[in-house]
Amino acid sequence: MTKTSPNGGATQATVHVPLDTRAYDVQIGTGLIASAGAQILPLLRRPKVAVVTDENVASLHLDALRAGLAADGVEMTSLKLPAGESTKSWPHLSKTVEWLLDQKVERGDVVVAFGGGVIGDLVGFAAAILRRGVRFVQIPTSLLAQVDSSVGGKTGINAPHGKNLIGAFHQPSLVLADVDVLATLQTRDFLAGYGEVVKYGLLGSAAFFEWLEENAPAMAAGDVDLRIEAVRRSVQMKADIVVRDETEQGDRALLNLGHTFCHALETATDYASSRLLHGEGVAIGCALAFEASMRLGLCAQEAPSRVRAHLRAMGMKVDLRDIDGELPSTDALIELMSQDKKVIDGQLRFIMARGIGDAFVTTDVPVDVVRGVLEDAR
Ligand SMILES: NC(=O)c1ccc[n+]([C@@H]2O[C@H](COP(=O)([O-])OP(=O)(O)OC[C@H]3O[C@@H](n4cnc5c(N)ncnc54)[C@H](O)[C@@H]3O)[C@@H](O)[C@H]2O)c1
Repeated sequence: MTKTSPNGGATQATVHVPLDTRAYDVQIGTGLIASAGAQILPLLRRPKVAVVTDENVASLHLDALRAGLAADGVEMTSLKLPAGESTKSWPHLSKTVEWLLDQKVERGDVVVAFGGGVIGDLVGFAAAILRRGVRFVQIPTSLLAQVDSSVGGKTGINAPHGKNLIGAFHQPSLVLADVDVLATLQTRDFLAGYGEVVKYGLLGSAAFFEWLEENAPAMAAGDVDLRIEAVRRSVQMKADIVVRDETEQGDRALLNLGHTFCHALETATDYASSRLLHGEGVAIGCALAFEASMRLGLCAQEAPSRVRAHLRAMGMKVDLRDIDGELPSTDALIELMSQDKKVIDGQLRFIMARGIGDAFVTTDVPVDVVRGVLEDAR
């Protein structure tokens, strides 16, 4: 469902994720935090929620959420965790679960994840294991979380062995993507989220990629209608894939375009946000995946150039040399890739492309091609 503005852009949209008993809505628009109480109240058995957030989001937006909940008589308690990828770890998971138990959160209650993808993944996992599963609501505050991590039910934390290796599938009961909060994101964080937006065009819709080539600069500059439309199209594409393949037995792997490279780079940079953000790694990974696809003769020569040109035009990282500091050797990076969850029977699975908007999963990528692509990006 979409309401449109006079210039044809969306002003409010709902994407429904029809997963049988786990179905839910993703509301996308403005003013959703101010009306959070009205949105969440129908889910509650008692008018009280436990909110987990990070310190940055708390200082900017927690008072607004408290007021939005209170407007409909919903009380909240809150836990603030440090911001950053290193929060997706055992110590913060146990702190969160124990805090939720201290708050006497019961099976029938709802936990709220209020933040970027780090908070969404961690709190979703905490909700999945608390009392063998309580419901949770995602209020994603970063672009990345609005277009990707808050939808689809993948939750979890990182291990020293690699990204997201500990987790569970646990779908939210509601997602409130209020694009107003994107205004306070640092430019670098906004662009990192854009890495996931552009990924959707690259993996499944040449028309969306073209739309982004035309509209993404104005969207990044702050156009609210364009932001709603970009989030809506991204969420709709993700929802369509998740509904076909909730637990990633097949098609859902397409969402990992660029991620085999990205996860190795994130591990190689110790998840240090100062060096590489997840979405930055995704953008670099997409550029590398298109380069590898071209070298394998799968797609035309102009496809990787067009991907790189758009990422550069948006001011994004594209190559390994754009990452500050030393990286491990190319062979060490390839070794890190083999730790990826997408490894099956020791074979690396890649998402390659026949062209923009036409990605597919394959194990048929010779390691020499990967080595060559990585070497040339250094
Ligand atoms: N579960 C999934 O399907 C899925 C999909 C993609 C990514 N992820 C995960 O998401 C994580 C990355 O998410 P992220 O980029 O949102 O990181 P993040 O949660 O660390 O947020 C990025 C930064 O932006 C700040 N921030 C968030 N909202 C803000 C706002 N409105 N104003 C100002 N600052 C704000 C945060 O405090 C943080 O410093 C990674 O851990 C990645 O693995 C998960």
